[in-house]
Amino acid sequence: MDFLQLPPLQRAAGTVKLPGSKSISNRMLLLAALAGGTTEIRDLLDSADTRVMLTALASLGIGLESQGINCWRVCGAGGVFPVKQGDLFMGNAGTAIRPLTAALALSGGNYKISGVPRMHERPIGDLVDGLRQIGCDIRYTGNEGFPPLEIHPAEVKLSAPIKVRGDVSSQFLTALLMGLPLTGKTAVIEMTTELISKPYIEITLNLMARFGVKVEREEWQRFTIPGGQGYRSPGVVYVEGDASSASYFLAAGAIGGGPVRVEGVGKQSIQGDVKFANALETMGACIAWGDNWIESSAPADGKLKAFDLDLNHIPDAAMTLAVAALFADGKCTLRNIASWRVKETDRIVAMATELRKLGAAVEEGVDWIAVTPVLTLQENVGIDTYDDHRVAMCFSLAALAGVPVRINDPKCVSKTFPDYFDAFARVTAPVIAIDGPSASGKGTVAQSVAAALGYHFLDSGALYRLTALAAMKANVSLDDEQAVATVAASLPAEFAGDRILLAGEEVNEAIRAEEVGNGASKIAALPAVRTALLERQRAYRRFPGLVADGRDMGSVVFPDAPVKVFLTASAAARAERRYKQLIDKGMPDNIRPLLRDIVKDLEERDARDAARPVAPLKHYPDADLVDTTALTIEQAVAAVLDSVHRKLPFFN
Ligand code: DC
Repeated sequence: MDFLQLPPLQRAAGTVKLPGSKSISNRMLLLAALAGGTTEIRDLLDSADTRVMLTALASLGIGLESQGINCWRVCGAGGVFPVKQGDLFMGNAGTAIRPLTAALALSGGNYKISGVPRMHERPIGDLVDGLRQIGCDIRYTGNEGFPPLEIHPAEVKLSAPIKVRGDVSSQFLTALLMGLPLTGKTAVIEMTTELISKPYIEITLNLMARFGVKVEREEWQRFTIPGGQGYRSPGVVYVEGDASSASYFLAAGAIGGGPVRVEGVGKQSIQGDVKFANALETMGACIAWGDNWIESSAPADGKLKAFDLDLNHIPDAAMTLAVAALFADGKCTLRNIASWRVKETDRIVAMATELRKLGAAVEEGVDWIAVTPVLTLQENVGIDTYDDHRVAMCFSLAALAGVPVRINDPKCVSKTFPDYFDAFARVTAPVIAIDGPSASGKGTVAQSVAAALGYHFLDSGALYRLTALAAMKANVSLDDEQAVATVAASLPAEFAGDRILLAGEEVNEAIRAEEVGNGASKIAALPAVRTALLERQRAYRRFPGLVADGRDMGSVVFPDAPVKVFLTASAAARAERRYKQLIDKGMPDNIRPLLRDIVKDLEERDARDAARPVAPLKHYPDADLVDTTALTIEQAVAAVLDSVHRKLPFFN
């Protein structure tokens, strides 16, 4: 089976831009489809669960136009679906099948709706019962109470309140609320039980209001949708970042030092799962809030506290707490989470089984789970993920205990977060930053260190050289800061094994030309160019780890790198190495510069680099100094590896 081997991790820090919220994406898609007018949805989540919704809507006659990355223009039907028959496959997307079932039942057509086998084990009976009360014709074609379903035209009567249970899934109420305005008549829904996961209903009501339909709510008991309201497009809408997905990174910050910042959710969020941050706070984590971001760091004393919490309001993010419990100072109890049993898998069973594999003691009940951490986690455990994206994502945190962890079938994260492990690597994968002056041999040493550890390698100097070359090719003046920054921001460069490509053409030799080197040195002093290359450099941080070479790797690009080395040598030694290189390359005596001129040149360059205002060359105190003046390459590599072993003890 496909698996991902996570290396032992020690620290987490950095910033992650969240993908769009699944709950908001699928609701907005359906509301835009039923609304009058055209809606442009920006920052839509691109994942398996939204794709099944898009495919279903297209087959029901809704005009959908992709407007570039994560942006869709939806031409609404202004009422029920125009296509009156269809056979719809909804995968394992609860947020798609439930609301769509209600909208289809009120559309006056003949439809079939089904999903993956697990979807056929996930209940839908309470919703079907609710819809049947008003006359909808819905039949079970498999097991009673579960998809697949067949839907037929029927006359709808709204004479009495619809009575519905709210204790299995809040999505049944969401589906009724979103569908009923299609009747144009006043509709009343009354809960016959306690309503779970209330924050999700708030999302539903909030988004319905944005599309022009107001619902009167009496406590969490009775909901009235006054007649005569229809959905109208609000024009352009933005999808917030996914608050449930934020939980993994916030937990990583709390466990692995931090700060870790998630962008896309914050104080203004309409998603209940942002309350996960409060739960982390009760564990002692330090949390900071912005309008559109949340940041977490470890408690001041580094120790997360045990908890006993009712988590009914954040059922999805609560799974992350079950893994965070491994890092607490005692037994942690998660209560009122019965809905875990009817999600992508039986999450209580799944979490208990996998946490036990890691060595934790786990007790479980019908609607609760308690996790007692162990001092040392089992290493190299294969975590099964049950085709459940959240199981895969939350167990990645276990590696922060400094043990290797294997995640089986990691691709199941594509349900809501296809790039999850890359994003996780960007805040956790170990980075070995090797800074130093030119000709210190850091390129050769860094490459050997990367090979010895099996890590990725970033030659950041090559990016500056590539930018200079690309600018020169495009006749862009190297003094034009903004124009060069634009070139840097969309550099068509690629490192393919040993080959360096620019717009598909191999340029290994070309970027080493003296002219290009001088150009690189010039543009490297331009702040806008450095900013344009910053995120690109950070994106090279991947599992199992990265060795990054360049003069500002440890200070600017990866300030949180767990291993930093400042590699240097006397100007005389560096000049001698360069001089030898020129002889080896076959440069004739008559054009070869004099050794003393090379020394002078290097000294001047060092002074310039140390004095420049942006990313100055400097030995910061948190970097280990390796002076290679008297060392061979092999000795220099050994010295860096020694630093690695001291800072990342799990390599011993
Ligand atoms: O290491 P190198 O000679 O390939 O680097 C090319 C130029 O880019 C050189 O002038 C230093 C500069 N550079 C930089 O300013 N910051 C980096 N991280 C890497 C290189």
